[in-house]
Amino acid sequence: MRHFTSVYDLPDLNEALKTAFEVKKNPFAYQHLGKNRTMILIFFNSSLRTRLSTQKAAMNLGMNTMVLNVNQDGWQLESELGVVMDGDKPEHLREAIPVIGSYCDIIGVRAFAQFKSKEDDYQEKIINQFVEYSGVPVVSMEAATRHPLQSFADHFTIEEFKTKEKPKVVLTWAPHPKALPQAVPNSFVEWIRQADYELVVTHPEGYELAPEFMGDIKVEYDQKKAFSGADFIYAKNWASYSSYGQVLSRDRNWTVDEEKMALTNQAKFMHCLPVRRNMVVSDGVIDSPDSIVIQEAANREVSAQAVLKMILEELK
Ligand code: CP
Repeated sequence: MRHFTSVYDLPDLNEALKTAFEVKKNPFAYQHLGKNRTMILIFFNSSLRTRLSTQKAAMNLGMNTMVLNVNQDGWQLESELGVVMDGDKPEHLREAIPVIGSYCDIIGVRAFAQFKSKEDDYQEKIINQFVEYSGVPVVSMEAATRHPLQSFADHFTIEEFKTKEKPKVVLTWAPHPKALPQAVPNSFVEWIRQADYELVVTHPEGYELAPEFMGDIKVEYDQKKAFSGADFIYAKNWASYSSYGQVLSRDRNWTVDEEKMALTNQAKFMHCLPVRRNMVVSDGVIDSPDSIVIQEAANREVSAQAVLKMILEELK
């Protein structure tokens, strides 16, 4: 594997899961792979988990790491081609990307949807420029439409906690005060569709995800019906795709609470974090023994290390 921007970059999903179990068991067994190799992590947006887990994963593999917070530490970068650069951005990605690539062996990039244009966001203009111009492997640390390191960790976590071969996994929309990208739910649905699980998606009308991510997965608009018999509840807020970037509802009847969790098969509660307590999920649910959000976040190190190991093995 050269780049990692979606589940489709993996040569084989089951082999990738095996690699994840292997690196979790022996995190320091592959330090020779990263010796004298450098990873640069570029953040256009804030992060806690992705920054720390990816850096730790790279260090476990013997790599050196450098972090650049573009909007705080570096020059403001222009991403549009053909513009007259007479504004507040003194450097273009066309120069910045190959320069960054010249200092490292792997680049990690976080560049969220900007919600200015659905077309621009869904064309993944920023991460695709890194893939095109950097000359080195690129790992998505959450792009405009996908968060594959998160989805990989989510899949791995379900594999660790499942008690039956084909669990019922429910992705539920939940309220939030701000407009959030669709990257996590898009990526989760796209990824979990590849697993042999029963996947149900539930959200209010107007929050339908893009068809290319949903495939043949049907929406259950009644959240309580969706929760019935579930083994895993995965909560996430996202802004509307059809009314692009808009918050159509802050209805706290969609908050995941104890009453709704009682409809499930004692489901495990998952969320990618950060999470707004008592908006997305009640204190009682997230603090319960069935909440696995910390284990899920810890597995971000595992998914990142599995991905970096696969890339390093292919590096010449
Ligand atoms: N889940 C996740 O990506 O967390 P951060 O935004 O803190 O990196």
